[in-house]
Amino acid sequence: MIKTQTNKEADIKSDFPIFKNNDIIYLDSAASAQKPNLVINSINDVYSNYYANINRGVYTLSQIATDKYEDAREVVKEFINAESSKEIIFVKGATEAINLVASSVSEIKLKKNDEIILSRLEHHSNIVPWQISAKKYGAKIKIAESDENGNVSCEAVMKEVSPKTKFICITHISNALGTILPVKEICTEAKSRGIYTLIDGCQAAPLLGIDVQDLGCDFYVFSGHKTYGPTGIGVLYGRKEILSETPPYQGGGDMIDRVTFEHTTYADIPSKFEAGTPNIAGAIGLGEALKWMKKIGMKNIHKHSQKVISDGLNILGNIKGIRIIGEPNNRGGVISFLYKNIHPHDMGTLLNSYNIAVRTGHHCAQPTMDRYKISSTVRASIGYYNTKSDFEALAEGILKVSKVFEKN
Ligand SMILES: Cc1ncc(COP(=O)(O)O)c(C=O)c1O
Repeated sequence: MIKTQTNKEADIKSDFPIFKNNDIIYLDSAASAQKPNLVINSINDVYSNYYANINRGVYTLSQIATDKYEDAREVVKEFINAESSKEIIFVKGATEAINLVASSVSEIKLKKNDEIILSRLEHHSNIVPWQISAKKYGAKIKIAESDENGNVSCEAVMKEVSPKTKFICITHISNALGTILPVKEICTEAKSRGIYTLIDGCQAAPLLGIDVQDLGCDFYVFSGHKTYGPTGIGVLYGRKEILSETPPYQGGGDMIDRVTFEHTTYADIPSKFEAGTPNIAGAIGLGEALKWMKKIGMKNIHKHSQKVISDGLNILGNIKGIRIIGEPNNRGGVISFLYKNIHPHDMGTLLNSYNIAVRTGHHCAQPTMDRYKISSTVRASIGYYNTKSDFEALAEGILKVSKVFEKN
C-alpha cells in the first residue's frame, strides 16, 4: 500500500527527533505524547545554563531559575484561561492532582453519608482516590452511566444528584473510548447546586482549547507528558476561593509561613500545595510545550485531530471483522477496537513486529470495559504528528496479523 504522507505532514514529524531516530508508527499518544525539539532543548537549556534550586536563592542563577519556573506558571494560567496564576499548582501529574483534591478538599467538604458522582468512563485515577476519601469520611460513590455508544449525558449525571452530592468528578475525554463529555453543561448545573466539580482533562488538554472560566469548573487537572511536555509534571487548577480554604496535602519546605515545634502557619497559594523542591525543569519544559501548542493553535490541533480520527474510523471501519468499541457523538483522539477473535495483546504484540505502537489492555478503565463485557481493547490514539498514513499502516498491519492467525 502507498502511504499518503505529504510534505506538510513530514514537516510536523521533523519537529520530533523520535521520528528521525525511529521508523515507528506511533499511535499511543493517549498514554504519552512524543516531545518536540523545543521541549527537549528547553530542558537541556535549564540544566546547561540556569539550573539552581528556586525560591530561596539570593544569587542570580537561582533567581533566573525561579523566574523561569514562575513564567511557566503564567503560561499554564494563560493556556487554560485561569483568573490568577495562584490557581495553578504544579504537581507530579493528573493522578497526584486528583489525589490532592480528593484528600485535602474532602477534608473541608465531605461528611458522613455525603455523595460523590463519577462517570462510568473514568480512568482509575479518578476513581480510586475518591474511594479512599469516601471510605475515610463515610461518603458514597454514585455512577453516572454511559449509553451503549459510550456517551455520558448531562442528564445521566444530574439523575444521580441529591442534596447530599458534594463532588462531581468527571473526565473531559474518555481515554478508553474517546468520548467528549458535556462538561460545561454539567459544571453549570453543579454550580447552581453548590456542588464542586473536578474535570479530568488528561486527554482534552492536548486537544481542545481549555477555558476553565468558561467551563465554570472548580478543579481541572492534566498531565504534562500528554501535552507534549516532560514526565513528572502536571497541573492542578483550583478556584482560589476554595484552594485558600483547603488544608495542605503535604508538609515540608516552601509551603510554610512560620514553623515552630508547637505550630506551623502555611504559605499562601500556590506555595501551600508545593511542598519541597518541585520539578523545576519539568515545569519549564511543560511551559514550552504549551507555548508550542498555542503557536500551532488549539483550533488547528483539534481540526487536524478530527480529520485524522475521521480518516482512521473510515479506514478501520472498512476492515472486515473490526468491532469499534464505543461510537460516541463527539470523539477526541482515540479509537478502541477488537478484531475478530484475536486477543488485543496478541494483536498489539504482532503489530509491534511491524513497528506499529498501539496500546492494548483495559487502559486503566476497567469499569468502562465492564460496560461492554470485555477485558481489553486495542487502542489507537493520536497526537498532532499523526496522519491518515499512520492509520493506513495500521490497517495494513492488522491484515498481516490476520494472515498470521489464518496460517496457524
Ligand atoms: C483520562 C486520564 N486520566 C488520568 C490519567 C492519569 O494520568 P497520569 O498517569 O499522567 O497521572 C490518564 C492517563 O492515562 C488519563 O488518560
